[in-house]
Amino acid sequence: MCGIVGYVGSADADGRPVDVVLEGLRRLEYRGYDSAGVAAVGPGGALATAKKAGKLANLVEELDAHPLPDATAAIGHTRWATHGAPTDRNAHPHVAGRVAVIHNGIVENFVALRAELAAEGVEFLSETDTEVAAHLLDRAYATTGDLTTAMQAVARRLEGTFTLLAVHADHPRTVVGARHDSPLVVGLGQGENYLGSDVAAFISHTREALELGQDQVVTITPTSVEVTDFAGASVHARRYTVDWDAAAAEKGGFRSFMDKEIHDQPHAVADTLLGRTDVRGRLVLDEVRISEDVLRAVDKIVVVACGTAAYAGHVAKYAIEHWCRVPVEVELAHEFRYRDPVVNARTLVVAISQSGETMDTLMAVRHAREQGATALAIVNTHGSTIPRESDAVLYTHAGPEIAVASTKAFLAQITATYLLGLYLAQLRGNMFADEVETILAELRAMPDKIQTVLDRSARVQEIARWMADTPSVLFLGRHVGYPVALEGALKLKELAYIHAEGFAAGELKHGPIALVEPGQPVFVVVPSPRGRHSLHAKVVSNIQEIRARGARTIVIAEDGDEAVVPFADEVFRVPQAPTLLAPLLSVVPLQVFACELATAKGLDVDQPRNLAKSVTVE
Ligand code: F6R
Repeated sequence: MCGIVGYVGSADADGRPVDVVLEGLRRLEYRGYDSAGVAAVGPGGALATAKKAGKLANLVEELDAHPLPDATAAIGHTRWATHGAPTDRNAHPHVAGRVAVIHNGIVENFVALRAELAAEGVEFLSETDTEVAAHLLDRAYATTGDLTTAMQAVARRLEGTFTLLAVHADHPRTVVGARHDSPLVVGLGQGENYLGSDVAAFISHTREALELGQDQVVTITPTSVEVTDFAGASVHARRYTVDWDAAAAEKGGFRSFMDKEIHDQPHAVADTLLGRTDVRGRLVLDEVRISEDVLRAVDKIVVVACGTAAYAGHVAKYAIEHWCRVPVEVELAHEFRYRDPVVNARTLVVAISQSGETMDTLMAVRHAREQGATALAIVNTHGSTIPRESDAVLYTHAGPEIAVASTKAFLAQITATYLLGLYLAQLRGNMFADEVETILAELRAMPDKIQTVLDRSARVQEIARWMADTPSVLFLGRHVGYPVALEGALKLKELAYIHAEGFAAGELKHGPIALVEPGQPVFVVVPSPRGRHSLHAKVVSNIQEIRARGARTIVIAEDGDEAVVPFADEVFRVPQAPTLLAPLLSVVPLQVFACELATAKGLDVDQPRNLAKSVTVE
């Protein structure tokens, strides 16, 4: 939510700081695209800014027409509006005196601070909470004469969440930043250094990074990085090397990042499985650094997550309960956090998050740990906050996910939760090693099967284009097919702005069937007809019920399932797979459908309206 970039480099690199910052903003635009802006300080001590409402392209156009003077340090911002409409005036940076500030987060005490500053004669030019921070910094600098000390003082006064970056006209070779419950990482260059909301900001320049902790202030110059706490004491920041490169964050010939990421899914699953078994194919999860005694004593698992990540948790519930015989609750993190949930030292809280920065999920982790629970993070982004605040982390290896709507992270999350479930089942004696190995072998076969689903996309795309004007679509599923239906509906809502609802198929007769009228498209995720406890017959009955009321039925069914054919207007086939693994296949046509339908409507599938990739505010 809001992308932030800072750069400081050599004075003789003509125009470079602004270009570097724009390049970083391009890679971070998925974090917010209501407005964009830059501030630059030149070697002679001149501060210049440019900002524009709308997408980054508007700012680039402005800068092409009116370039900023040469600079040695620059900061840039791409905004997801919280306080104040997405206008030029409210776009960041905000300038006070000789300082320019950009901000990600929400300053919760801004009304009081604004009143205090107004009483001292400050005139505000925007409706944002950020401008308050700019004035506070200007004033603190006037008192201390030191930018780092001034930033520490400002950080101590702000409540809420923030990442702040600032440049000052008196310091043409410095960018200073602060973070509290909002992301910021440092990129280490040669004679130049970077700051970014995430590593994508500087990945085309360096893969060497420093992880900042909470409540820290960082000051970068071309040759130094200093990190302190808000009181001014030096702190050590962990250095790491980013395990992907700039090419992974490019479209690679696909029409959109979304399209690319859907097609990346066989790799996302394969890479998440990689290195998690020993030479004999046995499951080894060394990263789960939680004592075996603690894991054996766990009597309840609570998954906390939001959106698509929560649906991955829903899928995992079926598998983990089945394999481990331990109850699994799946909670939306923002609901969990403000309830009085029953968790204790025997609860394992599993926080699932692509970004590792989702504020609601982070707060849920803190809330659970305060009550003695053990927290395990399943996260895609290294160096992010949720893993750092958890007892252990199991990384998904989906690679960078740039499209705002999640696809490959979802499949990787399901895969990682399954590894966790199998690991627990093995550890707690619920499954024998050979049973675990059989399922692992089936999991290893999934990437090829996902590829098969992708190879069959043409018909899904054709139907999607044909349905571009559809006002409403329903999705039904049972068992693990239920969260898949929810995810299919979410993808369609957020990408194509179409009213879409997902239901448990068994719930149909308890209300939702009233929505079915002649011509209503309904997707049905059909479970495998094989297997002892198959719900196949029940779902086929559900299809008949809605068909009898005129629904247009679009069925996701596995190869060889002929029973669905008489009741389906369209069948999208997926390869045969064990019931619990089937979501890794059945969700793919739903993703392709949403992506293609939105594209056919001429919408920006990578940056859907009103959304941001990483929701770092509540
Ligand atoms: C939907 C989507 C969101 C995220 C949710 C959690 O396509 O992307 O629903 O899944 O905001 O984000 P993370 O996984 O970063 O915590």
